Amino acid sequence: MLRAIIRFARNVINRGCAFPRTARRCIEMAKARCVVSAACVYFRRENLAQLPELPDIEPFRIANMDLNSESHTQAWLRLVNRAFFRQWSTEDFISSISYHPNYRVLETYFLVLGSELVGTCSIGVFRMNPTVGVTHYLALQNEFRGQGLGKYLLLYGLHRLRKYDVCACEGESTLAHKESLFIHFGLGFRPKRSQPWNTQTLTVWLSRRVAWRRFVRLYEMSRESGQK
Ligand SMILES: CC(C)(COP(=O)(O)OP(=O)(O)OC[C@H]1O[C@@H](n2cnc3c(N)ncnc32)[C@H](O)[C@@H]1OP(=O)(O)O)[C@@H](O)C(=O)NCCC(=O)NCCS
Repeated sequence: MLRAIIRFARNVINRGCAFPRTARRCIEMAKARCVVSAACVYFRRENLAQLPELPDIEPFRIANMDLNSESHTQAWLRLVNRAFFRQWSTEDFISSISYHPNYRVLETYFLVLGSELVGTCSIGVFRMNPTVGVTHYLALQNEFRGQGLGKYLLLYGLHRLRKYDVCACEGESTLAHKESLFIHFGLGFRPKRSQPWNTQTLTVWLSRRVAWRRFVRLYEMSRESGQK
């Protein structure tokens, strides 16, 4: 049903609707509220004391982002826009990293090959509960995927988070980002229900419920395949 409405609205836009922006906003709102894969899912790892060692990733290395550097901001935008199919600008970087409404971002870092910035990830704490850490905006250039580098970026962040005295780490995502969910599960994260400090999802109750079931199923699948 929802898909039919979205298809209809797309057709209206393509045929030159008098209010294309309004129609586009309606599609975005419908997607945000009803589509199961847009529902927020939450996951948590309790104890950061016993993390796996960081593997050697030569010739890659990690470099901290300089938040005042225009070239670093542009590199971050390039990586995130490609990975998440967005067209964000500097304002979006500021509202997602420097002044995120729910997280206080502590560190943003890049994965570097030679002089090229090929991946990024951030760590922070929840503004409403600074004893809980959070991973944020993990992104890797397409051509470097599938070699364990995404997992490295995340694991590096967990190692860094230990230095900030957090009791646990959480992540927030959607079912659309399966690779990232699998990586988190592989690093000891488990599905959790939303708490007051988490980002509240816009999605309607039914979509949230379906998403939760699929999310738990995905977790069980990852555990089963890990045990084989
Ligand atoms: C998420 C992302 C960084 C992953 O990078 P990557 O380098 O390809 O991932 P890795 O190679 O490190 O994968 C690590 C682990 O995940 C597992 N994995 C990845 N995709 C999987 C899948 N579809 N099914 C099962 N396992 C999967 C791998 O088996 C591997 O586990 P192992 O090391 O225990 O074998 C990359 O896909 C990306 O940039 N995606 C777009 C942005 C995004 O989704 N960001 C996260 C938003 S929350």
